[in-house]
Amino acid sequence: MKGVILAGGSGTRLHPLTRITNKHLLPIYDRPMVTYSIECLVRAGITELMVVTGGTHAGEFLRLLGNGHEYGIERLSYAYQERAGGIADALGLAERFAAGERVCVMLADNVVERSVRSSVENFERQERGARILLAREEDPEHLRHLGVPELDGDGRVLRIVEKPETPPSPFAVTGIYFYDADVFEIIPGLVPSGRGELEITDVNNHYVEQGTMEYDVLEGFWGDAGESIDAYYAVNDFVRANGANTE
Ligand code: G1P
Repeated sequence: MKGVILAGGSGTRLHPLTRITNKHLLPIYDRPMVTYSIECLVRAGITELMVVTGGTHAGEFLRLLGNGHEYGIERLSYAYQERAGGIADALGLAERFAAGERVCVMLADNVVERSVRSSVENFERQERGARILLAREEDPEHLRHLGVPELDGDGRVLRIVEKPETPPSPFAVTGIYFYDADVFEIIPGLVPSGRGELEITDVNNHYVEQGTMEYDVLEGFWGDAGESIDAYYAVNDFVRANGANTE
């Protein structure tokens, strides 16, 4: 399985910090944000990675990550997103890199406490389709800023609602996704959402409708450091006190 780290976007929710750099280069405790998602995938056994970035600070990723060997990456590729067209648009740039293999996709502003290795193994055993990782989140106000699944109580996802007024479950869809090669056929058929982006939630709902979407619930802390300035500091505080990507 190959890994795709999505580190583009304009980071408007963290303005003015993100006027002077890419969101994913901002510090989380003692190192740049993007290194946490890289560490997450490498520790889960995924060592062939592509980093997709964009904007005026893209060159800094090369300076930070180089050939990736220092981070345990065996082969590191880069792609450049020419406009902030959304998560699914960014993922589309990894089609040739994936070359027909399955991918694990991680948003570079997501930070997890515990290893995702068991989910990687679950997806390896899954015959086809996609897999999402959910995190339990009781606060409806927080869920209104995220993707939220409706579940049937029998282990199936019925649909995913992006930024719901009324969250249909106490779970967030985290920014860690697994896809089979079909994903690159789904992306060209997407229509931009109200915010003018190709939404990863539309990709996921495609798999839900096909009946091939599975999920795991993450153990331990999960945070989206790009969600708001408060979320950014909550992730910083957590990592400083407890670390990240532990077994
Ligand atoms: C994106 C997804 C959302 C998901 C979140 C996790 O939101 O669209 O479904 O819950 O990442 O980090 P965005 O950060 O683009 O608003």
